[in-house]
Amino acid sequence: MKVDYLRISLTDRCNFNCIYCRPYKRIKILNRADLLSFEEIVDFIRLVVKFGIRKIRLTGGEPLIRKGVIELINMISKIEEIKEISMTTNGAKLEEFASGLKKAGLSRINVSLDSLNEKKFTQITGYNGLSRVLRGIRIATEAGLNPVKINTVVLGGINDDEILDLVEFSQKNYLIVRFIEYMPINGMGNRKWYVSNEIVRNIIEKRWGKLKPVPFIGNGPARYFVTRESNIPVGFISFISHPFCKECNRLRLTCDGKLRPCLISDFEVDVKNALRSKRNREKNIGELFREAVDFKVKREKKFTGFDFKRAGKFMFQIGG
Ligand code: 5AD
Ligand code: SF4
Repeated sequence: MKVDYLRISLTDRCNFNCIYCRPYKRIKILNRADLLSFEEIVDFIRLVVKFGIRKIRLTGGEPLIRKGVIELINMISKIEEIKEISMTTNGAKLEEFASGLKKAGLSRINVSLDSLNEKKFTQITGYNGLSRVLRGIRIATEAGLNPVKINTVVLGGINDDEILDLVEFSQKNYLIVRFIEYMPINGMGNRKWYVSNEIVRNIIEKRWGKLKPVPFIGNGPARYFVTRESNIPVGFISFISHPFCKECNRLRLTCDGKLRPCLISDFEVDVKNALRSKRNREKNIGELFREAVDFKVKREKKFTGFDFKRAGKFMFQIGG
């Protein structure tokens, strides 16, 4: 197993409350002092490039809410071994940030977009601002954060009637849409929303004929296809119908400084403490990193299925 990809959550705050991610009535937000500082994040990256980390993705909550994020990207860009810095955002602040992000060294961006219908968008995200997000996506494309990818969580009975619209919108605007199977992480949402990507694929094929697989260089588990109408790929992330634990190449650093080898297991090692104590820092971080990778390898061997309650945290706390 080659672990070369680190996702870093910058904050558990978010200006959205997506119905599958963030139960806004029940959440406790971390204090500033509990978050890793930018210096600590950069120190951590410098220490783990020795073990093969080459790609970084910044996530949240909403990463663009963390003050000074551009400065952080500038700092990470100076680490020679890091070949790529990307970000997953809800897009609400892209209008303001896209060109600064590009200048600071961000390579590309993924934007969540679950609906093209204003009312439904607000219903899903709790944020009344579809047009702001759409402007943000356009500006990100113009700023050269390409390819801009769109993440769509398909929710049965809510947005599953918009699949074709989302494909058309994406292809028209040179965006790569990826349909993500809903996961009840930490019990979030409603199991009856689950729609397998097999069904999504059938809907697309009914309209445009058989999808043709295309190799696509990405970091993740998405599988990509083209329709006969366009050479812009459409992706599927099918964690439930086709578990991809075996190919998983990522670790997650939560905003409170825990290194987490697996999205849906609450196993974490505390790197914040190790970073904050000056004694044997390098050695301790090295040991914790190996412990996290070991957990991944062992888990992959004895993987027996999903228990999403065992995540122990919500998606916005883990970092998507
Ligand atoms: N199931 C599937 N995808 C989810 N995301 C957040 N919560 C869930 C969930 N419960 C997605 C978001 C975001 C990405 C990081 O993860 O849509 O784009
Ligand atoms: Fe915020 Fe992303 Fe969670 Fe939506 S999915 S509430 S945008 S962290």
